[in-house]
Amino acid sequence: MYSFKNDYSEGAHPRILNALIETNFEQEGGYGEDRYTRNAIELLKEKIDRTDVDIHLLSGGTQTNLIAISAFLRPHEAAMAASTGHILGHETGAIEATGHKILSIETDDGKLNPSGLKEALDAHTDEHMVKPKLVYISNSTEIGSIYKKSELEQLRDFCRENNLILYMDGARLGSALCSYENDLSLSDLPNLVDAFYIGGTKNGALIGEALVICRDSLKEDFRYHMKQKGALLAKGRLLGIQFSELFRDNLFFDLATHANKMAGILRKALEEAGVQFLTHSPSNQLFPILPDAFIAELEKKYAFHVWEKVSEDTSAIRLVTSWATKEDEVTEFIKEMNKLKGY
Ligand SMILES: Cc1ncc(COP(=O)(O)O)c(C=O)c1O
Repeated sequence: MYSFKNDYSEGAHPRILNALIETNFEQEGGYGEDRYTRNAIELLKEKIDRTDVDIHLLSGGTQTNLIAISAFLRPHEAAMAASTGHILGHETGAIEATGHKILSIETDDGKLNPSGLKEALDAHTDEHMVKPKLVYISNSTEIGSIYKKSELEQLRDFCRENNLILYMDGARLGSALCSYENDLSLSDLPNLVDAFYIGGTKNGALIGEALVICRDSLKEDFRYHMKQKGALLAKGRLLGIQFSELFRDNLFFDLATHANKMAGILRKALEEAGVQFLTHSPSNQLFPILPDAFIAELEKKYAFHVWEKVSEDTSAIRLVTSWATKEDEVTEFIKEMNKLKGY
């Protein structure tokens, strides 16, 4: 059964595995004080085109979100997120377990905007309520949409006017930046957000996320926060080697481009079959709406998430392509779409 369930079904790109093998017997410092981690951080700073950011390598998305958000906030402060945001629905209360409420904001497309944030700020007026302080966004979003530069500029300006921290979860930043609709580059991000992470796990690494802290006041003691929450890995080299390989040349972007290309082929075929989508998603996640009876048939051959019910007899499913998705498998899946007419 072929899986379109997620972008972490496969292991890692062979170049990453080779790099791990080639460096296997070299002795190095622990806890991120090794030459591979230093090299990865230098490469990332070059790509971001900023030397004044702090970069930390962590192992997973939930871990990065909870350590960053809890480090950035004071005890009474809260985060704000789209109601679809990953930290709200899919992280088992990890942020809340650090003592910080997440305020949920309804959106049409998974993207926050100043007016939604203003409503949340206006509803929190005094010390009997939590103080909204951090804006959590992800790019691409949980439902596959991506932020335009102008949208991030509006969010940045609103956050500056209201003394808020703007934090971007980049678990799928590769796919967002390589989207056919994207107008952002890595080097724009420090001018737009206070901190963001570059996701490796969902883009060809075994594991790993690179957190970039841009605002000076958020940088202090971050390694203490990592260590206290179990994220300062003795074998930090494993993360350094992977990010060095991903950013030594264009590998990170090539892998995301492949994932998007596979999604593009699927999108076009679904559109041609007259299928509607839950959301406009120009990235590697698609949410086609299909008859439930047809979904049941597809499930016999393919693995994917049934995302949400749309009507009495239709649901949106989530199809995710990855750096490793095989074009032949996409072609086979598209053939199944011919059977849709029967439903
Ligand atoms: C946008 C986003 N953030 C964070 C995560 C959490 O990552 P992890 O499963 O590595 O903790 C995911 C995982 O799917 C995600 O999609």
